[in-house]
Amino acid sequence: MITLENITKSFNHEGQDQVVLQDINLDVNKGEFLCIVGPSGCGKTTLLRMIAGLDFPTSGRILEEDVEISHPSIERGYVFQQYSLFPWLNVLENVTFGLELKEMKEDERLQKAREYLKMVGLSQAETSYPRELSGGMKQRVAIARSLVNDPHVLLMDEPFSALDVQTRHKLQEELVRIWKEEQKTIIFVTHNVDEAIFLADRVVVLSRNPGKVIKSFQVKLERLRDRSSSQFLELKKEITSFLDYEW
Ligand SMILES: Nc1ncnc2c1ncn2[C@@H]1O[C@H](COP(=O)(O)OP(=O)(O)OP(=O)(O)O)[C@@H](O)[C@H]1O
Ligand SMILES: [Mg+2]
Repeated sequence: MITLENITKSFNHEGQDQVVLQDINLDVNKGEFLCIVGPSGCGKTTLLRMIAGLDFPTSGRILEEDVEISHPSIERGYVFQQYSLFPWLNVLENVTFGLELKEMKEDERLQKAREYLKMVGLSQAETSYPRELSGGMKQRVAIARSLVNDPHVLLMDEPFSALDVQTRHKLQEELVRIWKEEQKTIIFVTHNVDEAIFLADRVVVLSRNPGKVIKSFQVKLERLRDRSSSQFLELKKEITSFLDYEW
């Protein structure tokens, strides 16, 4: 379980402290698929980076299994908002990179990497370089690269936001399947309410200036979810009304 206790985060801007996130309290259960939605600039990336151990709260604590998070760990995979593959490595090498750091034997590395490339539907592309891939393919490689390290937690920062709607929907479906198969905890940031409802067990809504948790919604619809069902649309309307509200 990941616990955020009274998190506040300020940045210094032109000599003044600007509070970006305030009084965030949140428990994320093991195996839960949590989506965090909020308007641009409300602090979603900042929050995710702190859970990753890439940045630290100004006050409050973030715990994983009761241990304070103090540094990045391979146990918490991170899929960035922008494409973040190594351009000089091909697809297979991008995926095996983390395993090399773990000093895993070469044949084992290749076998694992191929297993995850297959899972994201990219077996055919292992010798391609990032510049030869579409946006959707790059994000699949990024997902495979995170999963291959067998993290407990996957932190995903708007990974599909640059994609066309068909590709986005396909990758959302794949992610739900992978999450079920691999039984990971996923914390997924997005500003897209439709995406959040399609994916999540629970949707947490953040406000802006400062970022606070304003509402939490349990999504009880059966997967794979039908975006045109009346329950889906009702929930979308309700969550959107919170996002539009000027807090
Ligand atoms: N390193 C930093 N130094 C100063 N200010 C920062 C830093 N990182 C983020 N901020 C500020 O914190 C606020 C929240 O930024 P953040 O990137 O977390 O928002 P976001 O919700 O992820 O936005 P988006 O949806 O556009 O990605 C912004 O006002 C931003 O300018
Ligand atoms: Mg962001």
